[in-house]
Amino acid sequence: MCGIVCYMGKRNAKEIILEGLKSLEYRGYDSSGISVLVNGKLKTYKKAGKLDELNFLLKNKKLNSNIGIGHIRWATHGKADDINAHPHVSYDGRISVVHNGIIENYSELKKFLKEKGFEFKSSTDTEVVSNLISYFYKDDLLDAVFKSVELLKGSFALGIISNDENRLIAVRNESPLILGIGENEFILSSDVSSIAHLTKNVIYLKNMDIVDIKKNYSIYNNRKKVEREIERIDIELSSPSKEGYDFFMQKEIYEQPDVIRKNIKSYINNFSIDLKNSFSKDEIKNFNKIYIVACGSAYNAGVVSSYVFEKYAKIPVICDIASEFRYKINFLDEKSLVILISQSGETADTLAVLRNAKKYNAKTLAIVNVYGSSIAREADKTLFINAGNEIAVASTKAYSAQILITELFALDFAYKFGKIEKKEIENILKELKSIPEKIEIILNKKSIIEDFSNIIKNKNHIFYLGRGLDYFSAKEGALKLKEISYIHAESFPAGELKHGTIALIEKDTPIVAISTDEKLTDKMVSNVEEVSARGAFVFSICTEKSKKIEEVSNMSFVLPKTIDIFYPIFSVIVEQLLAYYTSKNKGLDVDKPRNLAKSVTVE
Ligand code: M6R
Repeated sequence: MCGIVCYMGKRNAKEIILEGLKSLEYRGYDSSGISVLVNGKLKTYKKAGKLDELNFLLKNKKLNSNIGIGHIRWATHGKADDINAHPHVSYDGRISVVHNGIIENYSELKKFLKEKGFEFKSSTDTEVVSNLISYFYKDDLLDAVFKSVELLKGSFALGIISNDENRLIAVRNESPLILGIGENEFILSSDVSSIAHLTKNVIYLKNMDIVDIKKNYSIYNNRKKVEREIERIDIELSSPSKEGYDFFMQKEIYEQPDVIRKNIKSYINNFSIDLKNSFSKDEIKNFNKIYIVACGSAYNAGVVSSYVFEKYAKIPVICDIASEFRYKINFLDEKSLVILISQSGETADTLAVLRNAKKYNAKTLAIVNVYGSSIAREADKTLFINAGNEIAVASTKAYSAQILITELFALDFAYKFGKIEKKEIENILKELKSIPEKIEIILNKKSIIEDFSNIIKNKNHIFYLGRGLDYFSAKEGALKLKEISYIHAESFPAGELKHGTIALIEKDTPIVAISTDEKLTDKMVSNVEEVSARGAFVFSICTEKSKKIEEVSNMSFVLPKTIDIFYPIFSVIVEQLLAYYTSKNKGLDVDKPRNLAKSVTVE
């Protein structure tokens, strides 16, 4: 979380840094700030709130400087205010630091520094870093950074400048940091998106790399000079535009038919699956355990896809949340396949699971959106979901693409595993080709969803119910609504409600009941009747075949016909639109909901 941009070169540092921070807003937007060196003096400006606040503060400030550090924050230690915003300048005003990550031993270091007479202004963990460097600083900033970093525990990407030297130093440990190398200029950033407009030559720094930039750059690891490969990034960046939509989330919901079409083009060859970068038949036959591990929506996509493995490959799958899985005893070995799903490819817990899996010689497959991201680069195999830039914090097109790609992998796995006939795959792929048009039909029927959003927008609680695959869709629907409308939403397997939670149902409690499985329709109808009998207001998402549920619901949305494994992609479109309209009708910032960041790079 948080984003760093540091610059040293021939251009105006303030301009370059502010431009870079704009493309890192997805990493946090609680506060932001910059420090630049003007005639050997540190000038630091920081502001709580979105980046626009900082832009406004700096609007009429020229700041003639070619060296600076910038930061956009997602608060971990200390609330989001001007004081806790980065950069953090040492007590004596000599050192300025921006930091991404968490210094786990900051309280011991703070105590030590306080005993030495250092004073602290903020409640952050970062302020110990600038003070520690200042404590060690005699006449060589690099030496002071070496000594300080040796004492730090945790995850940290740091950008450091000092009053006393025309020099930019950066450190990378666990939190990503990329060095962009231009002609007589250098840029460091948490993400290539804020580098690509300056240069395409980059170095993905390794853990504990320390970059020292004066006229040229040197990289050290363990105090020894090291060489790192310069890689060419192959991305053309256009500034994201809403293209006439009110919010990025709305645009991204509407992009889903095209994302599916793009993936069909990339991975389907006539009527066979061609994943290009996947495991061979022999490798697949070696697996006896599959784990799918991810966070948030990516986890929900994983649960949906685990059904496909179990149904077609007849292999049990354990699907877990990365922050839990990383601390469990989980029997990983060389016969295990660990699938990591992540839009950003930078989620700290998911990355930790990947690294852990490799230690146990398990094979790893990443299903990722962002090219060049840590998870994409470190996994044994990577499949890209081709969703394009997802700007809104709430995942939409990446979620449906994650389901699709993981399902395709599961089908290919089942085929190589000898559990499914080619003909059956052909039939599934035939149906897949019709999915984009069917999503368009759903998108065109949005008015009923908007009507329901007006009914729930002032409610405090809502429940999402489903059985089987529909329960997994319910999980995603509840998450989507919570994160952008701030309405408490919970999902339940429909049969589970009466084991406790039904006590919460009262007159007009809204319920979303998802019922796409014909075999389970009667059960769902009974569950809806149970909540209706207690006064609930039911909006059902169903199909022509499960239409019975319409008769017991107050409102309903009938999905186009498809096969079981694609219904979650249809149901979620309705859920995404419901969350979108509810948030919009409440006058909230749909794209940047409070307290959230697009990419969660801390534990
Ligand atoms: O980048 P990732 O897919 O690894 O992110 C995982 C979650 O943080 C993410 O899906 C989050 O839950 C979204 N805000 C959901 O809309």
